[in-house]
Amino acid sequence: MLHDSEILAKLMGRQKNYSLEQAFYNDPGVFDLDMREVFYREWLFAIPACELPKSGSFVTHQVGAYNVIIVRGVDGLVRAFHNACRHRGSVVCKAKKGNAPKLVCPYHQWTYELDGTLLWARDMGPDFNPSQHGLKTVHCRDLEGLIYICLADEAPDFEVFADLVRPYLAPHDLGNAKVAFESSIVENGNWKLVWENNRECYHCAGNHPSLCRSYPEDPAVTGVSEDGVPPKVQDHFDRIEAVGVAARFQLDQNRGQFRVARMPLLDGAVSFTMDGKAAISKNLGKIPFADAGTLLQFHYPSTWNHFLPDHSIVFCINPVSPTETEVTTKWLVHKDAEEGVDYDLKRLTEVWIATNDEDRIVVEDNQQGINSPVYTPGPYSPSQESGVIQFGDWYASQLTRRLTGRNLIAAE
Ligand code: FES
Ligand SMILES: [Fe+2]
Repeated sequence: MLHDSEILAKLMGRQKNYSLEQAFYNDPGVFDLDMREVFYREWLFAIPACELPKSGSFVTHQVGAYNVIIVRGVDGLVRAFHNACRHRGSVVCKAKKGNAPKLVCPYHQWTYELDGTLLWARDMGPDFNPSQHGLKTVHCRDLEGLIYICLADEAPDFEVFADLVRPYLAPHDLGNAKVAFESSIVENGNWKLVWENNRECYHCAGNHPSLCRSYPEDPAVTGVSEDGVPPKVQDHFDRIEAVGVAARFQLDQNRGQFRVARMPLLDGAVSFTMDGKAAISKNLGKIPFADAGTLLQFHYPSTWNHFLPDHSIVFCINPVSPTETEVTTKWLVHKDAEEGVDYDLKRLTEVWIATNDEDRIVVEDNQQGINSPVYTPGPYSPSQESGVIQFGDWYASQLTRRLTGRNLIAAE
């Protein structure tokens, strides 16, 4: 198990544009550091707000060692709290989701308001001050129907990201969504392998027969090409922006933590279905063109997403152990869309259920190979894997910054 100083030395000696050393993918010390300095520090996507349709609706959400209650209050606002009673620490909400007028601890029935304040605690004596024993808060934001949380005492800035992404997300009207289906799979691979795989489509032609019916494997779509935007993609951006819908590629200029781009699908395809046709007759959102493509939005380290003209798919990444990562996928449709009438559930979900499983297999194969003592970092393709390089640079600079208190780019 590596110590922080050894991890820092490896980061400083990292070979630029190569995959990371073995320890970054399977060492428990690196995993602890990743959780401590990345997942417990950054804003994380947790759930779509539509999962909390009314006052008292709650979801419990696990991030590493933390369990968080996300709940809608009587004032309609969504808040997040650590799911740990201020009496002797029991979990307060045991269910994965539900609805409750108050949050009542199952152990001794301490009772909290939906805003986290302690309302009632039996026989605690005259000196007990309930106002000192509210649930501990977790930073929480509702960004156009997507709930982000941050476990850090002091959250990093959220507004730069929110301001950039809001005009892209707003036309998708996620506040009026419902979850049509969700799947959670555990991939036997380090969370960074899950991301590296997501950030390129070099593997798509060989692994994703269903996805490749609608999604272009063109690296200009998935990556962050240094050659700029190809004319065909630029025409696509211009056509959509001409009617007031944000489309163009934008990468976080400061730290490279997030990206938005409304990318075209293959000619003739409008959604992630086997025939490329729409999956739903009642659209979620007001995107004026059926062929507007997919809004790709990622935010490291927790989420990548596809927002389509007819529905949206949101993904949440949760590291479980050095070599296990939970990937949760939720298919969002208009809240009034009826299964069997407006959409067929199999047709809606089959492409990404297959794609997730195909990605799981390649990630697990990747992890197995890396676990061998013979593994050494290998070179990324500059044209096909620019997104992977960008992710690795973000990760390395993030950890280095945390460990040294300064910015540092990988050694040349
Ligand atoms: S631990 Fe919650 S009421 Fe006792
Ligand atoms: Fe993939």
